[in-house]
Order: sequence, then C-alpha cells, then structure tokens
Amino acid sequence: MKPDIIRSFKDKKVLLVGDTILDIYIYGNTIGLSPDAPAPEMEERKSSIFFGGNGLIASHILNLGGRVTFVTILGDDEDAKYYDSWTHPKLKKIFLIDPTRKTTVKRRWYDKNLKLLQVNKVDNHYINSDLEKKIIKLVEANAPHVDVVVIMDPQHGMLSKKLIKNIVAMSKKYKKPLHVDVQVFHRPSNHHLYKGVDTMFLNQKEAKSVYPKFNLQKPEQSLLVIMKKLKLKNVVVKLGGLGSIAIFSDQYIKSRPYKVKAVDVCGAGDAFLAAFSLGDRNRPEESLRIANIWGALSTKIHGTMPPRRKDLVKILKEKNS
Ligand SMILES: Nc1ncnc2c1ncn2[C@@H]1O[C@H](COP(=O)(O)OP(=O)(O)OP(=O)(O)O)[C@@H](O)[C@H]1O
Ligand SMILES: [Mg+2]
Repeated sequence: MKPDIIRSFKDKKVLLVGDTILDIYIYGNTIGLSPDAPAPEMEERKSSIFFGGNGLIASHILNLGGRVTFVTILGDDEDAKYYDSWTHPKLKKIFLIDPTRKTTVKRRWYDKNLKLLQVNKVDNHYINSDLEKKIIKLVEANAPHVDVVVIMDPQHGMLSKKLIKNIVAMSKKYKKPLHVDVQVFHRPSNHHLYKGVDTMFLNQKEAKSVYPKFNLQKPEQSLLVIMKKLKLKNVVVKLGGLGSIAIFSDQYIKSRPYKVKAVDVCGAGDAFLAAFSLGDRNRPEESLRIANIWGALSTKIHGTMPPRRKDLVKILKEKNS
C-alpha cells in the first residue's frame, strides 16, 4: 500500500469529545500471604500512568501524527493533576472540572504479568445542565475548524442525552462527519441516541445489542439492518482477530486482519477508531486496512499505550501490505 495516505494524517484535525480515564498500573513482587487475610502481600517495584478512555484515543491520534482538540471532564481532586503534565504541540486540551465527580481512575495491581486486582474510582452520574451548556458552547466553537468529530462513549456520564443530541446536530450543521463508538459494558446500549450519525463503530457484541440477529454468515445484510435501524450513513463492525467489515459510501468492504501475536486485546477498538478517523474518506478500503493494522499493533503492547507510527509505515511499505 502507498504510505502517502498516512502522510496526510498530519494535516487532519480531530475534535474528540468524551470521558477520559486514568489508567494506573502497579507492578510488584509477591512476598507471601498477608498475616491477617488470605490475600497476597506485595512489594511495589514500579508504577506507570497512562491516559485511557478518550485520553487513549487522543494519544493514538497524536502518535499517528494528527492534531486533536480534546474536550473532556475531570474531577475536582488530586488525581486530576496528573493531566497537567500532558502536553503536545498538536494537542489542544479543553479539560473542564466537574466538582460533583471524582476523576475517573482505574488502578490495576500485577505480580509481574499476573493481574491480581483492579479497583475503579468512577462516578457514573450524568453531568448537570450548567456543565452541559458549557460543553455544548465549546463544541460549537471548535467544530467548524476540524475535519472530523469523534466520540467514544464509555458511558461514564459525560455524554448525556442532551449533549449527544447537540453534537449530532452540530456535526450536521457544520457538515463534519461524526464517528461514534459506544462501549456496552456496565450500562445497556445507548446506540439509539446516536441516530443519524455519519459512521458508527461496533464490535460483534455491540452489533448484537442493536440487531440481535446480527450474523457473520450474512455480513452485508446484517450491516444494512444496523444502518437502517440507526439511520447511519456508514457502519463498521470490528471482529477482533478476524479484521473488520463495513459499509462505507454504499460499498461493502471486508478487511482482512493483520496477523500478530496479541498479548493484550483491550483497547484495540480505540486504536482502530483513531486510525480510521485520520484516514481518507475517498479511500475507505485502505483506511480500514490501516485501522486493522494499527488495532493489531496495539494488541502487541501490554497496557494503555499506543504503538509507534514508524512500525505502521514499515508495514505499509511491505509488499502486499
Ligand atoms: N488478536 C488480534 N489480531 C489481529 N488484529 C486484531 C486483534 N484484536 C483486534 N484486532 C484489530 O483491532 C480491531 C479492533 O479490535 P476489537 O474488534 O477487539 O474491538 P473492540 O471490541 O471495540 O475493542 P475494545 O476492547 O477496545 O473495546 C479489529 O477490528 C482488528 O482489526
Ligand atoms: Mg470497543
């Protein structure tokens, strides 16, 4: 594949809206059982902090060379301060403090590579109308200056019904494609709130939450039903190690996977969404292939960290990539 398509990533401007998550990984050595409970006692060796959720999508966009305006919310607490050190010449941070919530943090403890425990600090309540209004204004001010609007909705409370409605309307008003990926994990599907968006990204489980009869034996027909149900222009279904399928610009596309030895598949969907959003709308087949490769590369890394752009460039230069 000609790598010119990823050279154009550097001219792309993305407006990214959604909850961010602080991913903290603590590694240690187990020294034995606790004297007072049947729990391991550890000595901490090192810890790493990453920006997850939409923070990870922003990091993917930056690593791929794109420009991102990132609108998100933080709590009024110590953990919010981790975000102060995050700077990049192509990152515009619009981080609003919500005094009613804690900064979302997911802390994981490992003995070498064995996960022992995860503790989440989350407030999943929806934002209040004052904050809603502020965010709507900021999205409105920034939307005209970008190429694409991206929402990854982990359903942690930032993307309220009203905010979603307004962003969908603004993307139409300013003729900016809106790419949406909703996680169905701790709350049921809210895909119906995103009716009419440009492109919806789903995995198989999410596809089934919209269309329970979603069937990979009838991929094109299944995608068409989802498009019709959600009034979408385009749809992409991610298939993990099997690659992805899509209907884009009325064309059915099946994109083979890029074969890798996966060590951590968590977050591959975020990698995929970021890479596809920087792609060329007139070359959907190539954009989908690049998203597959970037998603696959992300599975080779343990934890919340994007792959390196130069590895993608190298793959694209190979024959039959
Ligand atoms: N094991 C794998 N081998 C090769 N490619 C993979 C693998 N896992 C994921 N990918 C690539 O990454 C894309 C997105 O991954 P996946 O289908 O797991 O999305 P997801 O379920 O939304 O992920 P997430 O856990 O981030 O929500 C896939 O469509 C595929 O191209
Ligand atoms: Mg996902």
